[in-house]
Amino acid sequence: MIDDVPQATPPRPQTISYPATERVTSRSPLEPVDPHVIVLFGATGDLARRKLLPGLAYLVTSDLAPDIRVVGTSLEDFDDAGFRAFARQAIDEFGSHRLSAEQWDAFDDRLVYVPQSAGPDRLAQAVKEAEQQLGPQTLRLHYLSVPPKAAVAVLQMLREADLVDRARVVMEKPFGTDLASAIALNNTVHETFAEEQVFRIDHFLGKEAAQNILAFRFANGLFEPIWNRNFIDHVQIDIPETLGLDQRAGFYESTGAYKDMVVTHLFQVMAFVAMEPPTALEPRAISEEKNKVFRSLLPIDPDQVVRGQFAGYTSLDGVAPDSDTETFIALKVGLDNWRWAGVPFYLRTGKRMAEGARIISIAFREAPRSMFPHNSGVGSAGPDHLTFDLADESKVSLSFYGKRPGPGMRLEKLSMQFSTEETERAADVLEAYERLMLDAMRGDHTLFTTAEGIESLWERSQPLLDDPPESKPYPVDSWGPNAIHQLIAPHAWRLPFERAWREKK
Ligand code: BG6
Repeated sequence: MIDDVPQATPPRPQTISYPATERVTSRSPLEPVDPHVIVLFGATGDLARRKLLPGLAYLVTSDLAPDIRVVGTSLEDFDDAGFRAFARQAIDEFGSHRLSAEQWDAFDDRLVYVPQSAGPDRLAQAVKEAEQQLGPQTLRLHYLSVPPKAAVAVLQMLREADLVDRARVVMEKPFGTDLASAIALNNTVHETFAEEQVFRIDHFLGKEAAQNILAFRFANGLFEPIWNRNFIDHVQIDIPETLGLDQRAGFYESTGAYKDMVVTHLFQVMAFVAMEPPTALEPRAISEEKNKVFRSLLPIDPDQVVRGQFAGYTSLDGVAPDSDTETFIALKVGLDNWRWAGVPFYLRTGKRMAEGARIISIAFREAPRSMFPHNSGVGSAGPDHLTFDLADESKVSLSFYGKRPGPGMRLEKLSMQFSTEETERAADVLEAYERLMLDAMRGDHTLFTTAEGIESLWERSQPLLDDPPESKPYPVDSWGPNAIHQLIAPHAWRLPFERAWREKK
């Protein structure tokens, strides 16, 4: 224990009805999974290069995955050898685990490529050849690592290629841009696939640290009794990023921080923090509780939102000179239910900010402290905080006032801290996409989002989408426009921390 605590409605359009969700329980990680042909659409795109190909290589070489073959497809005119060279480079550059020559040999044989221009029949043929190698039990996992417009064309291609049976489909965000488009997209998906075949990925939920929130809350008796409005003062979910837009300005210009980050990642993480205990660790029970959180989200009030745009954004290629797209957003939201009524949730995220971090901070109500003299230091460093860091190290810190050693009664902020890095299991952490691809192969929906949940979020977002406040400029390497302080007053943003996390000695 040392003194280094991190301080610091509009009318609803008609919705669709869904086929009854499959009652799949979370499988034991040891249960064998049938072989899979993974059809990777967008196989030469950025996500495939950075995450999916390195992730698949790790799953294969670590024996976590069942026997698989990967059929890559995209606009690029590669042959098998070209795709293998592309994959090799991606894995060398972005893989978190280096592959030995032997491991690479074990992986590269499993890769084949069909250019999209070759058409559905050629794709079907490649999948069938792979299935013959794997045997009659083989299942299909179609990973749509493509933008939404292209996704619709891919669904059609899958129908034409007759690749819908024995298949699951992984879809990437954005899942629409408002309620009407989300419903339309879900309807289109359901023309081809039943809801239980669809896995909408939100990679934040695949992060080890996000799942640790569930473990922390529901596997222990310590915090759940005080996890409510009587003891919690407010919650912050703060995900500043230092990175800019690289080559993504074109995509980002029509998306912005709210749709790119809040509707997907921040609200999903908020649901893990705010949900009621599910009746079981199984997909339907967890989705039900998350969806209840989304249904109790109060409509987003534009007056409680600060939009920002970093200086220089409008001179990027692909950005309109008068663009109002927000590269930063901070907002105060509320949940209208018995557990959380009156407790503000402050959310913030943005590009080109001063630091990169992924923090959830729970501030507890303060004690009366009447027995301590005014100058004892009690309360001088804010309330007690429980802080989750969503980095791979899954850090958790609990800060509290304790006695400073020596004469008299001087109080100071202390903390108890945990980091996965400091345990013997640090090497077992799976990268989010690795975990989620494996879960999709297991048919486990626990960490995926549902059509219903996403539609609720868009519905609650409508007031903001209809009437967004103007984007205020903010300097690169800052914490956003000044208005963020008024938004959170009388509280203060935890970031930047006054004192850093304790580093392993
Ligand atoms: C993506 C967003 O979904 O998540 C990006 O599109 C963002 O804009 C990224 O940078 C952040 O993910 P991570 O895992 O790197 O924190």
